[in-house]
Amino acid sequence: MMKIEILTIFPGLLEGPFGESMLRRAVERRLLEVELIDLRNFARGRHRQVDDAPYGGGSGMVFKPEPLFEAVEALQERGGEERARVILLTPQGRTFNQDIARELSREKRLLLICTRYEGVDERVRRALVDDEISIGDYILTGGEPAAAVVVDAVARLLPGFLEEGSLAEESYSGSLLEYPHYTRPPVFRGMAVPPVLLSGDHGEIARWRRRQSLLRTHRRRPDLLEKATLSDEERRFLEEADGGGEDF
Ligand code: ADE
Repeated sequence: MMKIEILTIFPGLLEGPFGESMLRRAVERRLLEVELIDLRNFARGRHRQVDDAPYGGGSGMVFKPEPLFEAVEALQERGGEERARVILLTPQGRTFNQDIARELSREKRLLLICTRYEGVDERVRRALVDDEISIGDYILTGGEPAAAVVVDAVARLLPGFLEEGSLAEESYSGSLLEYPHYTRPPVFRGMAVPPVLLSGDHGEIARWRRRQSLLRTHRRRPDLLEKATLSDEERRFLEEADGGGEDF
């Protein structure tokens, strides 16, 4: 079972996402344990202050080093042999993607640190953190939504979480976007399901889906195609499709 500890000054922000649906399933199946830890429990003084003004002046506040060091050290000690990989959520981190999710899903223990304001005292980065992750090039008010994103993406990769085969299908298509999906009815408001999907010919269906994936990725995310392995026939198909035409 994987254990993820999350340090935050707003544990309430994350109770919702982890109590519902997908993640609850992971927790109920005992694939994953998530623990929210209030950083203020490790802050000293009457006001349990976790932040302070930056040296050198400027606007905003900075997370103090002491509560974070004490919290992480206490959690590591409590965890015993199994040292957690300590990850700071920050817009300065490496940009999160499926490869990083896969990499993290192989860990036994993760400790995610959410901060706010202008960031953290640099000594936290220098001496406490193993890894820094950003979920994209935009600034959130705090790392909590980023932690929820990382935990969600990692949880669904844990062995036993998804139906057998669905991950295999995903890795087969590699970095391509998914083909279009349809369900009943066959015609809805004048829009028909592509006939091949009703044909029962599984070979033809697989070929159509692969080509739709290629076409979609080519048109929407050409950057992803560079990483994909394509046959000569598939490359020709895309060149020809460039002349125009529908998705199907
Ligand atoms: N904290 C604030 N913005 C963030 C981002 N984009 N990714 C991760 N953590 C953050």
